[in-house]
Amino acid sequence: MTYDGVADGRPADGDGVARGDLLVAEGLVKAYGGVRALDGVGIRLRAGEVHALVGENGAGKSTLVRVLSGTLAPDEGSLRFAREARAGGIAVVSQELSLFPDLSVRENLFPHHPPRRFGLLDRGAMDRAARPVLAELGLDPAPGTLLGELPLAEQQLTEIARALLRRPSVLVLDEPTSALPAAAVDRLEGVLRTLTGRGIAILYVTHFLAEVMRVAHRVTVLRDGRVTLAGARREDVGVPDLVTAMLGGAPPRQVPRTPVAAGGPAAVELSGVCVPGRLADVSLAVRAGEVVGVAGLQGAGHAAALEVVCGRTDVSAGRVDVAGRGRPRSLRDAVRAGVAFVPSDRKRHGLMTDRTVWENATAVSRLALGRGGLLPSRAELAGSIQNVTARLRLRGGPYDVVNRLSGGNQQKVVFAKWLATDPRVVVLDDPTRGVDVGVRSEMHRIIGELAAGGAAVLVASTDPAELTEVCDRVLVFVRGRVVGEVGGTELTEHGLAVAIQAEGGP
Ligand SMILES: Nc1ncnc2c1ncn2[C@@H]1O[C@H](COP(=O)(O)OP(=O)(O)OP(=O)(O)O)[C@@H](O)[C@H]1O
Ligand SMILES: [Mg+2]
Repeated sequence: MTYDGVADGRPADGDGVARGDLLVAEGLVKAYGGVRALDGVGIRLRAGEVHALVGENGAGKSTLVRVLSGTLAPDEGSLRFAREARAGGIAVVSQELSLFPDLSVRENLFPHHPPRRFGLLDRGAMDRAARPVLAELGLDPAPGTLLGELPLAEQQLTEIARALLRRPSVLVLDEPTSALPAAAVDRLEGVLRTLTGRGIAILYVTHFLAEVMRVAHRVTVLRDGRVTLAGARREDVGVPDLVTAMLGGAPPRQVPRTPVAAGGPAAVELSGVCVPGRLADVSLAVRAGEVVGVAGLQGAGHAAALEVVCGRTDVSAGRVDVAGRGRPRSLRDAVRAGVAFVPSDRKRHGLMTDRTVWENATAVSRLALGRGGLLPSRAELAGSIQNVTARLRLRGGPYDVVNRLSGGNQQKVVFAKWLATDPRVVVLDDPTRGVDVGVRSEMHRIIGELAAGGAAVLVASTDPAELTEVCDRVLVFVRGRVVGEVGGTELTEHGLAVAIQAEGGP
C-alpha cells in the first residue's frame, strides 16, 4: 500500500501523478467486519474542478472521504498527491457538524492554531483573517457570537469557513447543503466557482442530483463500495444515468399523492396563536388524513408553528388543540397525545447515537404505546419495530449501535422509532435530509400511508420538491404570519418558490 505522508493532512510529493491531477487514489479497499465499505475504489481529483461523489446511503462515500483525508487507513490501495497539492493539504467539511455550539464563532474558526500575540490569543488577527472568508460565504456574525445561537444553515457555512481558513489545495465537502435553504445553496455554489477558479480541487458529496448537474465538472458514483460511474464529465451524463448508476437500474418509485376526501375532523387546530417574535396571529387546521406542508424563508415562522404543535414552544395568545387534548405543554405531553415528531437535527434531538437501534426505537414507543395506561410488552415492541425497520430497509440489526450506521441510515432510525408509535399526528421537520433517492421515495410512501391510516401530517422541508411530492397543500409563512396556501395544480416547486419569495422580499 502506498500512502504518502498524509498523516498530518499534508500530502507529500507523489510520483506518477498526471499533470493537473492533485490527488489520485487507486484500488482502495476498506472492510468493516464482513462489510466492504470500499471495494477497489479509485478516484482522480483535478485542480480547478468540482468532482461530485454520489451514491445511496451506505454506498461508501464518507468512508472514501475519510481515507482520502488520511483519518482512516485503508486495508489496500494507493493514494498519491501532486507536488502542487503539498502546500495546502486537504480540508474536510464532514457530514455531521463538528463545531462546538458553546464556543464563539471566532473560537470555532481557529480550533488548532489560533494566532497569538505575546502568548495571548490575538482576537484582532483572528477577526482580520476570518472576515473576508466569512464575507465570501455571505456570513456576518459578530465574531463573539456563540455558534449555537446561529441558525443551522449558518453553522454549516461556518464549518466551511473554518476549512477555507486552512487554505487547502483539496477541499472535501460531505453533504454540505442538506441543511441549507435555497439562498444559501446558491451562495455556496458561487463560492465553489470562485475556489475552482483559484485552482483548488473540490470533492463534493451530495444527494441532490440537480446540484451535481449545476456545479460539477465530473461525477463519480459509488454503489455498495464499488465505482459504478468513474469520473464521467458532466456534459456526458444526465440525471437518469446517475440514478441508474446509484440504484443499479431499478426504476425509482414515484408514488403520486391521491388527495384525501375533505371533511375529516381537525386533528390539529391553531387559532390566533402568538409566540413573541416568531408567530403573529396564526390560524390553521389539519384534518385527519391530510398531509399539510409549511414553508417560508428562514425565520418566517413555519418552524415555530411545528414547535407549538409538539409542545416545544410556549404561546402568549391564542388557542391550540392537538388530537383533542388541548395544547401540549412539553414534547412528552405531545407524545402522550399521539404526536410523532421527526426532527431535522438528528444529532441534537433525534437520537442517542451511542445506543443501539433497539434502545432508540423503544425509548419513545414505551411512552407512546403505553398511552392506554398499559406498558407495551417486549414482544409488542419488537413486532412494531421490526415491521418499521423492514419497511424502511434499514441496514443493520436492532442491536447495532447507531453511530456505526451511515448518516442516511441514522435518519431512518429516527423515522423508525416514531413510526412504531402508531401516531395520530405526525410532525416532520425535514424528514429526508441526507437520505438517498430510494429511501426518500420509500419514506414518502410511508407518509402517504400514515395519512391514509387517519393520521394528520404536518411537514416542513428545506427541499421544496419534497413538499410538492408529499403534500395536499402547503401553507406559506412570512414574518410570523400565514399569508397564503398553495395546493392543487399550483403546487409545483416553481409555484411554491414564487409564493414564498413574492411575499418574503424586504
Ligand atoms: N465505523 C464503522 N464501523 C462499522 N461499519 C461502518 C463504519 N463506518 C461505516 N460503516 C459501514 O460502511 C458502509 C459505508 O458507510 P458510509 O458512511 O461510507 O456510507 P455513505 O455513502 O457515506 O452513506 P450516507 O449517504 O448514508 O452518509 C455502511 O455499510 C456502514 O454501515
Ligand atoms: Mg456519509
